[in-house]
Amino acid sequence: MSAPATAITALRSRHLLGIAGMTPEEITLVLDTATAMKEIGSRTVKKVPALRGKTVVNLFFEPSTRTRTSFEIAEKRLSADTLNVAIGTSSVVKGETLVDTALNIEAMQPDMIVLRHSSSGTCHLLSRICKSAIINAGDGTHEHPTQALLDAFTIRERKPTLAGLKVAIVGDLLHSRVLRSNILLLTTMGADVWVCGPPTLIPADIRRFGVTATSRIDEAVEGADVVMMLRIQLERMEGAYFPSLREYFNVFGMTEARLRLAKPDVLIMHPGPMNRGVEIASEVADGPYSVILDQVANGVAVRMAVLYLLAGGADHEETT
Ligand code: CP
Repeated sequence: MSAPATAITALRSRHLLGIAGMTPEEITLVLDTATAMKEIGSRTVKKVPALRGKTVVNLFFEPSTRTRTSFEIAEKRLSADTLNVAIGTSSVVKGETLVDTALNIEAMQPDMIVLRHSSSGTCHLLSRICKSAIINAGDGTHEHPTQALLDAFTIRERKPTLAGLKVAIVGDLLHSRVLRSNILLLTTMGADVWVCGPPTLIPADIRRFGVTATSRIDEAVEGADVVMMLRIQLERMEGAYFPSLREYFNVFGMTEARLRLAKPDVLIMHPGPMNRGVEIASEVADGPYSVILDQVANGVAVRMAVLYLLAGGADHEETT
């Protein structure tokens, strides 16, 4: 397989720690490469030798359905040797630290480590002490770069360009790593990003990221090309940020009536897992504007692209 013809053919960093620092050209390279990867998924034999001989360790300290599964499928489609560390039966339960766990895995010479952890900054920490390429699969409330890349890929499949689109991101803004990565990516690509949630769930410094913040959902959704709903992350909340889930749904939940304020060809997105009846009504989640399962499907292609590019892309293939 050869890399798509673009101005650049490689990522500048050995790691994918976040969208922060990625150029529009690098983002476009990942999305273009994912287009080629998606075609592989439509073949009868969904496998290419691009990562033959490479070992990838999936190290998930937090639960995951979509990200972990799609990374594993992506690794297998590229012929990597892939290993999932089961944290619950590892020596982490005996008190081994993240750093010691990582250094011991490193001693077995993997090429890449895909890391999810509840603490922000853990991927940056490992990137400083590990020789392996580190891929951020979600660190605390910091970043979830492959989610933002697959979201952009899904939008780009249906809209001619990301530039100029009104994207409304609604929900728990305070605890969302998906929000941060999406803001960084979408503003880098020229989208008009609106964020909306209860005042208690809007980070104080959110406007410095170049977005419009509001607690009036009708204002956020009006004329939107894309409405991205975020999960209420009850597991990260210590106090009460709103009176009740029912009240939250009444004020901020996405309903068919609210969606009529958006553009007629609006896309409804959600990174998952969804709280149906809290941030989104089932009629919307399963309705004609929803691309939520397309996001999941595209996660495989985008993660294949990231793995391929971090392994050296076409340069790696030419030497193997
Ligand atoms: N979107 C997402 O990260 O889902 P999982 O937590 O299931 O991986």
